[in-house]
Amino acid sequence: MASAPSYISFRGVDFQYTSQGKSPTWILKDLNLEIARGEFYVLLGPSGCGKTTALTLLAGFEHQAAGTVSVDGRTITKPGVDRVVIFQGDDSLYGWLTAQENVEFGLKMAGMPASQRREKALRQLEFVGLKGQGHKFPSQLSGGMKQRIQIARALVCDSPILLMDEPFAALDAQTRAVLQDELTAIQRKIASTVLFITHDIGEAIILADRIGIMRSGPASALKEEITIDLPRPRRRGDPAFGALYDRIHATLSEEVDKVMRREQAAA
Ligand SMILES: Nc1ncnc2c1ncn2[C@@H]1O[C@H](COP(=O)(O)OP(=O)(O)OP(=O)(O)O)[C@@H](O)[C@H]1O
Ligand SMILES: [Mg+2]
Repeated sequence: MASAPSYISFRGVDFQYTSQGKSPTWILKDLNLEIARGEFYVLLGPSGCGKTTALTLLAGFEHQAAGTVSVDGRTITKPGVDRVVIFQGDDSLYGWLTAQENVEFGLKMAGMPASQRREKALRQLEFVGLKGQGHKFPSQLSGGMKQRIQIARALVCDSPILLMDEPFAALDAQTRAVLQDELTAIQRKIASTVLFITHDIGEAIILADRIGIMRSGPASALKEEITIDLPRPRRRGDPAFGALYDRIHATLSEEVDKVMRREQAAA
């Protein structure tokens, strides 16, 4: 995968938030990241290093000060239907629509006939473990169920690129494990390209074709990339899994320690 031609590219990307006042600091500096078509790429890194920022540049919600972010050779200038975004705890469901109507909403806007969108929505609801719950309104659903509706609503669009920012973080461990397996299966079936952010090293190893570990900020970029070639389905008890886990944990810990030392020095 790593040597396949690049589909998503970050080249020499520098970014700072303009709202930061007199002395803005670079969040990202010279970020270079290449993702192949159909690849499942997972970003790990200490809190605040700029993972979500990188994802929002690719989504077209923010713009870099230097460098380019492109998909299939086209520079990203704005959000697009080819890139669907799922954020953690995203609470953007329409309260006056049922779960199923929420899942169908984007398809309806795109002009898909009712019977076709109903079939797709029902399949997605089943995928996220909410078969038979489509008639309920968001106020009748738990936080985890609402998050699963968000995921269904995004997946139903069959977008070629999925941008997922800690989408499972608010879910219970059991549901999370089921969705990890299901997401792997569906991603392989529809061959979408995924940029997935998590803090969970185990989740990263279960899902990823490749893992990118970011340095602590400011001026963050990739520190290391690791190709995960364990056969699927991957299980945490496997010794090779454990060895990878330890290696990634050691790399991440170095970066987290840097953040803590910097915070202590500033205190
Ligand atoms: N809208 C904003 N305005 C100013 N600074 C911001 C804004 N959003 C994020 N930042 C800062 O940019 C840096 C990177 O934030 P980002 O959300 O990308 O980190 P992250 O790696 O996703 O962290 P986490 O793992 O905690 O989600 C942080 O220092 C954060 O405080
Ligand atoms: Mg984040």
